[in-house]
Amino acid sequence: MEIVIQESAEQLARMAADVIEDVVRTNPNPVLGLATGSSPLPIYTELIRRHREEGLSFAHCTAFTLDEYVGLPAGHPESYHEVIRNEFTRHVDIDDARVFSPDGSADGLESAGERYDAAIKAAGGVDVQILGIGSDGHIAFNEPGSSLSSRTRLKTLTAQTREDNARFFDSLDQVPIHALTQGLGTILEARRLVLIATGAGKAQAVANMVEGPLAAFCPGSVLQLHNHAIVLVDEAAASGLTHSDYYRLSFDRKPAWQKL
Ligand code: GLP
Repeated sequence: MEIVIQESAEQLARMAADVIEDVVRTNPNPVLGLATGSSPLPIYTELIRRHREEGLSFAHCTAFTLDEYVGLPAGHPESYHEVIRNEFTRHVDIDDARVFSPDGSADGLESAGERYDAAIKAAGGVDVQILGIGSDGHIAFNEPGSSLSSRTRLKTLTAQTREDNARFFDSLDQVPIHALTQGLGTILEARRLVLIATGAGKAQAVANMVEGPLAAFCPGSVLQLHNHAIVLVDEAAASGLTHSDYYRLSFDRKPAWQKL
C-alpha cells in the first residue's frame, strides 16, 4: 500500500486522475471502477476538465459502480446510477449503455450480486477502482463485519451510514435500509485501487485501514492485501497516522520510473 499525503484535495485529485488517464490512454478496452460519495468528486471534476480541455476520451471505456441502494425506483436522483451519471459520466463521452450498477430494484435481488460479478468478469475485470472510505472504515457498502473475501451481495446499512447519507435525502426515513455492494473480495480483484480520503472526519478510519490490523471490523484494511493500492490523503485525514514521516519520505524519494 502506498500512502501519499498532500495538502489539498485538488492535488490528490490530479494524482488520481493521472493514474486513470494512464489506464485510459494505454489500454484499448479500459474498465473503470467508479465510486460515489463526496470524496471522489474532485477526481471527476479533474477528469471532466481533461476531457474538455485536453481531449481525454472515455469513448472506449466500460465502467462499473461499486454499489447501489436497494428499493429506489429507477431514475431516482439519489440512486447511485443517477448520481454517477450526473457527477461524471454524462459530462464525458463514455457510452451510457456501458456504465453499469448493481440492480437494486426489487426483482431478482437474490441473484443480482452474482450477475454483477459475472458482468465485471465478462468485461475483463476492473483496471482501476476508485474508492472512498466511510467514517466507520467501510468501503463501498461493506459495513464493519463484512467478510474480507465477500462477493457482491445485499448488505444492511448501519445506523451511522444511514445518518451520514441522510444529507442527500429529505429525511432519514427515506434513506434505504439495504444496498447491493461489490464485496471486499470483488474489490480486491481490481488491478489497481485508488482510495481518496479527506478531512479530519476520516482520520480514525484511515489510521485503522493503514496501520491497524487486517480485520473485518475495518473493511478498508482489506487494502493491505492488495499489491497495487494507493491511498491518497490530505493532512487532516492523515493526522491519525503514526508513520506519516516515513510515507512522506518514501514518496519524496520515489524513483522517477516508479509511477503511482
Ligand atoms: C457511501 C458510499 C461509499 C463512500 C462513503 C463515504 O457509504 N457507499 O462508497 O466511500 O459513502 O462517502 P464520502 O466520501 O461522502 O464521505
